[in-house]
Amino acid sequence: MFSHLIVRREGPVEYVSLNRPDVRNAFNEELIAELTGWATTIHGDREVRAVVLSGAGKSFCAGADITWMAKTIEFSEDDNMRDAAAASRMFGALNTLPVPLIGRIHGAALGGGVGLAAVCDIVVADHDTQFGFTEVKLGILPAVISPFVLEKIGRSAARELFLTGSRFSARRAQEIGLVHAVVGIAELDATVHNYLQECLTGGREAIAAAKALIAQVWDQPFEDAMPITAAALARRRVSAEGQEGLRAFLEKRKPGWSRS
Ligand code: COA
Repeated sequence: MFSHLIVRREGPVEYVSLNRPDVRNAFNEELIAELTGWATTIHGDREVRAVVLSGAGKSFCAGADITWMAKTIEFSEDDNMRDAAAASRMFGALNTLPVPLIGRIHGAALGGGVGLAAVCDIVVADHDTQFGFTEVKLGILPAVISPFVLEKIGRSAARELFLTGSRFSARRAQEIGLVHAVVGIAELDATVHNYLQECLTGGREAIAAAKALIAQVWDQPFEDAMPITAAALARRRVSAEGQEGLRAFLEKRKPGWSRS
């Protein structure tokens, strides 16, 4: 079904792996189209409760395919706009998945590869991973990933790292908020598994609502956030899922929707 992705479903968990290992999973037009199409199906799939995003072979993702980008010199401005917009839509579709998106990062996450890490809710990285916004070294810039990256790392780190294009360690990525857990390669899968187990004990709709709430509230003044937060909590309390979760706690049992 896909040429550049490996997709597998295990119970309620969807595993998606970028699969262009010869070019360190750099993304070209086809990979962007496949990942966007795949994300669209997940948006409408009520069975899936969490997604793990990884890269096949030596590295997670070396960003945009430089060979493909070099060819864009032959493109018109409209073609270039269309291509950039497609990449932007891919990041947007991943960023708004209604389930936890867990990044399993190893080897290298560069350019758009860091963008992929930035749209993940939870990021687990091997401590030898190299990160970097290397775009300026190629005479381009980290543009379409910037909304997602800035939200995670803030302006100060972006000013340093976007402008220097320097590569940085997994530890530094953790310090600036891109990565949540740094472990040895041998513990990568077990760490992802632990996060998955936690996610599967939460209500699917509650998790989707929590994710949407963060996006709505994070840059709002309290006065504007207050009606949004109150309405969100009120809706959850009276929902079937919320009522079942509250009753299950009082009756000392697992909620019917728990998948752990
Ligand atoms: N686009 C296209 N091809 C890429 C690529 C990219 N972003 N990144 C790596 N490749 C290719 C290399 O050209 C090489 O091709 P070859 O086998 O035909 O020579 C192949 O992938 C393997 O790369 P190599 O550098 O030998 O592998 P490595 O495991 O030693 O290092 C990286 C991997 C990702 C650290 C290194 O390739 C790198 O720094 N790439 C640049 C990534 C970058 O700057 N991305 C930003 C894009 S905006």
